[in-house]
Amino acid sequence: MSRAWIIELAYLAAAVCFVVGFKWMSSPSTARQGNFISAIGMLVAVVVTLLDQHIVSFTWIIVGGGIGAALGAWMAQAVKMTAMPQMVAIFNGFGGGASALVAAAEWHRLALPQFEFPVGTAVSIYASTLVGAVTFSGSMVAAAKLQELISGRPILFKGQHIVNAMVLLAIVGLAVYLTREHAAGGWFLVLNGLALLLGVLLVIPIGGADMPVVICLLNSYSGVAAALTGFVIHNHGLIITGALVGASGLILTQIMCKAMNRSLANVLFGGVGAVAGGPAGTTTKAGHVKSIQPEDAAALLAYASTVVFVPGYGLAVAQAQHQVRELADLLEKRGVDVKYGIHPVAGRMPGHMNVLLAEANVPYDKLYDMDAINPHFERTDVVLVVGANDVVNPAARTAPNSPLYGMPILDVDKARQVIFMKRSLNPGFAGVDNELFYLDKTSMLFGDAKASLTAVINAVKQL
Ligand code: TAP
Repeated sequence: MSRAWIIELAYLAAAVCFVVGFKWMSSPSTARQGNFISAIGMLVAVVVTLLDQHIVSFTWIIVGGGIGAALGAWMAQAVKMTAMPQMVAIFNGFGGGASALVAAAEWHRLALPQFEFPVGTAVSIYASTLVGAVTFSGSMVAAAKLQELISGRPILFKGQHIVNAMVLLAIVGLAVYLTREHAAGGWFLVLNGLALLLGVLLVIPIGGADMPVVICLLNSYSGVAAALTGFVIHNHGLIITGALVGASGLILTQIMCKAMNRSLANVLFGGVGAVAGGPAGTTTKAGHVKSIQPEDAAALLAYASTVVFVPGYGLAVAQAQHQVRELADLLEKRGVDVKYGIHPVAGRMPGHMNVLLAEANVPYDKLYDMDAINPHFERTDVVLVVGANDVVNPAARTAPNSPLYGMPILDVDKARQVIFMKRSLNPGFAGVDNELFYLDKTSMLFGDAKASLTAVINAVKQL
């Protein structure tokens, strides 16, 4: 078998690892193995590429890889769980930026008089530059919005869409010109600058709160950029991997939009969304709410036969996943049946709750997604809502004028008793008051979720 064949087979094996990895990642019980086999696939791809193409010295690869690995390890340790979306945004941005840089390097090489510059390669280079640079600058703006380095509010101005269209048109025009005049290096720089500008312009009108959806879309773009770069440097592994990332990012974006009952166009061009972080508004209405003390909540939970925990964004803020697990263990020891109801967009990033609960080693078979848990609520004695709000808000069913209207929710209101753990009556991300707070069956345990859970745990131990 020739060397070229072995290399292609190795890329194919890597691609198979990625596909199997994706499949396994779709269930929490196999997600770790999925991650592992995907990492093996990536290792195979990297090793084969390094052995195949002696284009740079290994010294630089080792130095670059060392710096990158050290930075990555430090970030993974230092970044808080609530700041993961912006970290993912930065990673996507680097992926797009890397694709644009590879395309630029290839452009530079082929622009030398001794090389041929086929039209197909030129198209791949300019497309890769466009998508890669847009991904880079767009992701940096998304990360800055989420980190509140810049305002999370949508930045809108008159004629915005026309300006965006003009910039895109200018990029396409330049790409056509450059395909004819390969040596016009100055114009290639202008094309790069315009593509970076376009990324900024596309993301600034989107509210900080919609950034997780945008980040998924940018993730998909980074895959497309990588696939295009694969065409530029004739690397089949990169084409396959990029296409997988592009397609999966797009599917995830669709799932998130559907779960939020928004269209992608509404997210991208709607200019809606609250400022990231703080409460999204103050539409709380006056009404009677019943507050409860940890001791009474403990009694309600401990003497129930069926309890469902519903975690939300506040769980991530309070970092109370270990306390949730401890309380569930205590209740189960007393013979209570405990389940967890997970909404697809609870928290601020896909799989947010699954990751938190996995960290606390909550058994996967106790996690029920929305469709699986909803039929159980009617037969549930107590639902403990830990820092969730929008994902249980019945306004999604009953209030046609609410931004939540139409969003599928967890039918918590059908349970016999509901206990909310949150700090105030403030609304959640969507800024919509929650009528569930005011129902007779609802009790509010005010305070930080970790402190409240600890108090309830201590009280259950005393029973
Ligand atoms: P939210 O509706 O945002 O409610 C979270 C609640 O947690 C708040 O009402 C807040 O109330 C409470 N909270 C905050 N810190 C707390 C703490 N330390 N202790 C206790 N409670 C605390 O969250 P959700 O129900 O998870 O819904 C998610 C929302 O985000 C949905 O609207 C969804 O569409 C949106 N979204 C999700 C995603 C993804 S992919 N997950 C992406 C974009 C947007 P207090 O301030 O009163 O404590």
